[in-house]
Amino acid sequence: MGMFQSLAGFRDFYPDQCQLRNNLFNNWRRVSLTANFREYDVPSLESLDLYLEKSGEEILSQIYHFMDKGDRAVAMRPEITPSVARMVGAKANALKKPIKWFSIGECFRYERPQKGRLRSFYQYNADIFGEKSIFADVELINLLINSLKIFGLTNVDFRVRFSDRKMWALLLELLGVHPNQTKDVLVLIDKYERITDKDWEVKTTQLFGAEKAMSFRNIIGDWLNLSNLADLKNFWQRYQLEDSFQKKVFQRLEDWSHLLEALKTMGVSDFIELDFTIVRGLAYYTGFVFEAFDRNQKSRALAGGGRYDHLVAKLGGPEIPATGFAIGDVTLQDFLKSKNLLPKYCQSLDVYVVIDGYEMLHNALSGISALRSQGISVEYPLKPISLGKQFKIAHSCGANWIVVYGEREWSMGEVTLKNLSNGVDSVVSPRVALESIASKYM
Ligand code: HAM
Repeated sequence: MGMFQSLAGFRDFYPDQCQLRNNLFNNWRRVSLTANFREYDVPSLESLDLYLEKSGEEILSQIYHFMDKGDRAVAMRPEITPSVARMVGAKANALKKPIKWFSIGECFRYERPQKGRLRSFYQYNADIFGEKSIFADVELINLLINSLKIFGLTNVDFRVRFSDRKMWALLLELLGVHPNQTKDVLVLIDKYERITDKDWEVKTTQLFGAEKAMSFRNIIGDWLNLSNLADLKNFWQRYQLEDSFQKKVFQRLEDWSHLLEALKTMGVSDFIELDFTIVRGLAYYTGFVFEAFDRNQKSRALAGGGRYDHLVAKLGGPEIPATGFAIGDVTLQDFLKSKNLLPKYCQSLDVYVVIDGYEMLHNALSGISALRSQGISVEYPLKPISLGKQFKIAHSCGANWIVVYGEREWSMGEVTLKNLSNGVDSVVSPRVALESIASKYM
């Protein structure tokens, strides 16, 4: 029988990979704190019902779910949003608004493992609940950009493609698409970049019938080419709109102006691109939506998010506006690697203790404990090995100091202290050695 292996789409994290992962987490935490977001966490196993209807078909087909021993239908979390919406809904009145929260955790989706897609991955989520103004959206888009910039990525490397389900709804209203069909149209648009021209034709014909489908495709073709606010305004000016409808369009264009202006003032407009092909696959989004991508390569999204104002109420809570995003660790690490931006690691070691024989090992242990209790990292051989080998190990693990417990010094109650940063050796008592080392770490 061969070695057991981890399941397809799941990763073993050897220490090197764990360090890389922790580096992502640390950076995300740092950035979140600069914007005063607070960390929370949610259960990994939830009731399957939490995701039914709310997450959208694609995710549903990918959920790991099973009956537990009490015959409850349960699911491994495929995302964090429904859980955090439930948490907020349950304590809505007690929580101070705006609620700015973030979390970092593992999610599970039964997808076909491929580049950028695994069955277990980590997501960094940041969300704001209780604020419907566009400044909540601005805060999050800015946080998303900063949480990629912190790794050294710039606007040459990535962009945030930005769109709006409200504007989409207005367009579909203009085109006379029945509200019942809106969902199907958006599901189709979500696939637009991945399907062939032929499929696009077939699918739109299925939705609207041949004649209507043609004019739909023409207008949508223009719409998907819009690339800035001026274009968008011009688009709407081409149509004679009924007063109340026109008012809705104007109001939304106003929101757009405010939002883009604010992003410009924050200095991040170079990252943003209007792109109506972005609608997001998840069912709960209601307003501005966005996804971050490698600028130079067609690849999986690094991150995605948007506004979802009714999810909390749909889960039984009060109406609380919400907006947020998630970044995944798999796509980001691939991206950083391609840009040569993965940090190089070497776990730092303060002291290596070289020990001459078993007897001496006993003598050294109290000094080792004393150093560690001062927060100084110490390594030593767990069994006697040659002195030469020990010195070699000490150098290879990058220790700053070596303390030698040798027969000759010890017979005088002393040890040799080697400061590797300046090459100075001294023979001193263990107490003095401890003090000299500790004084460097004050
Ligand atoms: P999502 O677009 O489904 O959004 O996922 C966000 C990110 O998670 C993706 O851009 C990708 O980096 C990563 N991701 C998703 N699936 C996989 C996978 N199978 N393998 C590797 N990485 C993956 C959401 O999950 C929303 N809940 C985000 C959100 C938060 N919206 C509002 N707040």
